[in-house]
Amino acid sequence: MTPNSDYIKSLENYKFKQELKISISEKILKNLFVILLLVNVVLSAQAMINVDARKTTSLNGKWNVIIDPYENGYYDYRYEPSNNGYFKNAQQNERWELLEYSFDTDEMLYVPGDWNSQKEKLLYYEGTIWYKKSFNYNLPKEKRLFLYFGAVNYDAKVYLNGELIGEHEGGFTPFQFEITDKVKEKGNYVIVKADNKRYKDAVPTVNTDWYNYGGITRKVLLIETEETFVQDYFIQLEKGNLNKISGWVKLNGNHLNKKLEIKIPEAEIYKAVNTDDNGFAKFEIEKKMELWSPENPKLYDVELILGECVIADKVGFRTIETRGTDILLNGKSVFLRGICLHEEAAYQNGGRAFSKDHAKVLLGWAKDLSCNYVRLAHYTHNEAMVRYADEIGLLVWAEVPVYWTISWENEATYKNAENQLTEMITRDRNRCAVALWSMANETPLSEARFKFLSKLAKKAKELDPSRLITAAMERHYSDDNTLIIDDEFGKVVDVLGCNAYIGWYDGLPEKCRGIKWETVYDKPVIISEFGGGALFGEHGDKLTRWSEEFQESLYKENLEMFKKVSFIQGLTPWILKDFKSPRRHKPRIQNFWNMKGLISDKGDKKKAYYVLKNFYETIK
Ligand code: GCU
Repeated sequence: MTPNSDYIKSLENYKFKQELKISISEKILKNLFVILLLVNVVLSAQAMINVDARKTTSLNGKWNVIIDPYENGYYDYRYEPSNNGYFKNAQQNERWELLEYSFDTDEMLYVPGDWNSQKEKLLYYEGTIWYKKSFNYNLPKEKRLFLYFGAVNYDAKVYLNGELIGEHEGGFTPFQFEITDKVKEKGNYVIVKADNKRYKDAVPTVNTDWYNYGGITRKVLLIETEETFVQDYFIQLEKGNLNKISGWVKLNGNHLNKKLEIKIPEAEIYKAVNTDDNGFAKFEIEKKMELWSPENPKLYDVELILGECVIADKVGFRTIETRGTDILLNGKSVFLRGICLHEEAAYQNGGRAFSKDHAKVLLGWAKDLSCNYVRLAHYTHNEAMVRYADEIGLLVWAEVPVYWTISWENEATYKNAENQLTEMITRDRNRCAVALWSMANETPLSEARFKFLSKLAKKAKELDPSRLITAAMERHYSDDNTLIIDDEFGKVVDVLGCNAYIGWYDGLPEKCRGIKWETVYDKPVIISEFGGGALFGEHGDKLTRWSEEFQESLYKENLEMFKKVSFIQGLTPWILKDFKSPRRHKPRIQNFWNMKGLISDKGDKKKAYYVLKNFYETIK
């Protein structure tokens, strides 16, 4: 019987559906596998804290690099990920072999350090650079080994001995991958594909007013641990309680029920805890500690003892809260005499800061200004900055780069922001200097933005209920002379940041004299940015734009205005030091630099520096 055409059609239809089902299930399976791999990679990427207190081997120094603008080392000519990319570090063994790359005979870059400031030809480079470092490691049995990065801007794919071991997105927070089962005694090579290309759904998005410094911008370490070790801990005063330390510890390993001892010898604290099946233990210690403050940055030596392994840290104890429009440090109202900083080293024509020496210069200037507070804008700065703020007594506004026109509706964008927030808070929640976690800067109002930021703020509170949540909010004129702060996100935060450039982007400095400020919230307000530009050594009358006199007048007028507003509890003028920016092109004056610094990149103090210093000294 010849089947009629309908029957054949139905058969083909059925066959097509079956194939479709199979292909869909294969696709789902494949995607599920990829998702599991990624989840596994992302989950295991959470870095352990206080890495410098552990058994580490530095991989800092000169790395071999390949500049790869077309990602030829990652994609084949059909733009499919290649199995034989540069991460294989192939060698040419015979004269007839074809090989079109070679790490060992190509260029070199220092790690840590952005690439833009290391080589003239990389000044504007945005794309991929491959880094390679070889090392030997004799890992004792029962020990574990982790590969740790302080930060890579922006996207990192990390390979060990030719195999992908993990990926990380976000240019300013630490991550790690376990390499216990992959490391050899001799001849290891780690390869990193660092890519600083900007893209719309990233965090930050494509438009920022800071330099897109790419590369392995912070330290790289091998960290050797016991089979079960202290991954994370939190030791701070309980919110609002000056006499109680509350905290927890989290172990990583296979033997999670352990006895752990917390010692603070100077306070005669010796607290033993037993971790549960998840390696977790909470604790509370009633004790009156000498309180940390900017005037008395008291840090205690703290030891966490797990078997033979001792982790030492330096921890300060203080409380930070709000009451109405007041900010309370250790229960007393405090005015935050601050300044904004980008993470850019001084005296070297730009480049990312990453060391304690860099921090000493930058925060030393803040202290000289009589600051008790700094805003580390617009992303998580390196750990040396935050630890040095602990040491010399500067409260800190810490921030994730949720900046300007983020893709609020994109779930992956939110997950990325949340991951960067988690990595920031995890790294720094034992730093008593950190008082505020900032969710955003100057983000345009919308329902999607409100939902995104509210979810992020909720996550921050979950991760750390002890600190204040803030953001640089929007404000607007309710009439010609009244600036009102009524940003909907103000309902969610504890403290409202507000940027206002009266006299620079908004009228001239004298305009400050007629401005009234209003807020609809019974919460503290911090002026998180104000200021204007000047070229050091440029002089004219106070209406000559870019002269030191114009900037000096702008500071005098703004400070006179702010000191009359009772709900303003802090100031962080924009900005301590001139900084590189791709948006600033005025010849002779800017040349790719944002000149709103009070200090030039060469350390020259402009007249406005002394206006602010004098103001802070009088209100101290
Ligand atoms: C904005 C923004 C800063 C920027 C500054 C400026 O407020 O938050 O990142 O650099 O203004 O225009 O200089």
